[in-house]
Amino acid sequence: MEIRYRPEELTRLPRSVRYETGKVIMIDQTLLPKEFKIIELRTVEEVAEAIITMKVRGAPAIGAAAAFGLALYADTTKAKNKDEFMDGFYRAYETLKNTRPTAVNLFWALNRIKKLVEENAESPLDELKKLIVAEAQRIADEDVEANLRMGHYGAEALPEGNVLTHCNAGSLATVQLGTVGAVLRVMNKDGTLKLLWVDETRPVLQGARLSAWEYHYDGIPLKLITDNMAGFVMQQGKVDAIIVGADRIVANGDFANKIGTYTLAVLAKEHGIPFFTVAPLSTIDMSLKSGKEIPIEERKPEEVLTCGGCRIAPDVDVYNPAFDVTPHRYLTGIITDRGVVYPPFERNLRRLFREEQ
Ligand code: MRU
Repeated sequence: MEIRYRPEELTRLPRSVRYETGKVIMIDQTLLPKEFKIIELRTVEEVAEAIITMKVRGAPAIGAAAAFGLALYADTTKAKNKDEFMDGFYRAYETLKNTRPTAVNLFWALNRIKKLVEENAESPLDELKKLIVAEAQRIADEDVEANLRMGHYGAEALPEGNVLTHCNAGSLATVQLGTVGAVLRVMNKDGTLKLLWVDETRPVLQGARLSAWEYHYDGIPLKLITDNMAGFVMQQGKVDAIIVGADRIVANGDFANKIGTYTLAVLAKEHGIPFFTVAPLSTIDMSLKSGKEIPIEERKPEEVLTCGGCRIAPDVDVYNPAFDVTPHRYLTGIITDRGVVYPPFERNLRRLFREEQ
């Protein structure tokens, strides 16, 4: 696979999350599309709160934000010695870890930095701090690089025509470009993407508020539909491929993604439409055997009881799982930054990870 475009040729959007000494800087995604606002966070608690309230969301963006949270700790701690530093480090690690349970990139990024810290426990404190900050920056830079690769792999794998997506796995959901977003952007540049169908994605409307906004901003031709229209659009023969992100892919190829993904997968099979997920290796959790083991986040009832800040239902009980699990039998392929994985997923994912080591 040949990388044909640079990030700046594919998007006009800046990085959704970045770090400068003493501050984590991010786009506040809760305000879009009404307002494009950059916020600066100066404490680990503020970063954790931003993840919980979805100011920053999307699996890889959450991972990068958490890594920057640890960088922020390293740069701002008042610890006077190594012991105090390590106590504070583990507290920051726990605070960031206990934010959202489903996207594995959060734990992957935090554990990557924790491992580095533990391996360098003998280094002088100042050096250890620098290592943490550099590693967090590396995690963010690698994410953009991985997206660029997935974009090119995906554009080769998907057929020319109309593509449907769910939620937001675009630039906003990653450091830049997106996973799905990179594939769509490369296809658009190549002229193989005719039309993008964007599901609004209730209850938090990541499709309507974020995907429609960012793809329109980058000049991708799209039509927005409500979630319950997707089946009819497929039945009308207006969808040639479906591509979604993932919050956690497990060893047998089952994967968790935004609630509603499973419904689309079943509909895609009924209509013979290729169904892909796209995610970097940091989203693949080989420690879990099947999708049944993935912890699924349940969020506040208010998200379902309201829409765009307006109350739309009486005061009744609500069930609000943020994600669902799609069994691997519905998947055509998994587009990763190391190539496209096809069935049998269990064997081919194992092979991919063996080659990585
Ligand atoms: O609850 P969210 O908005 O964080 O959920 C996001 C998704 O489900 C995305 O599809 C997934 O994280 C992949 S992002 C590249």
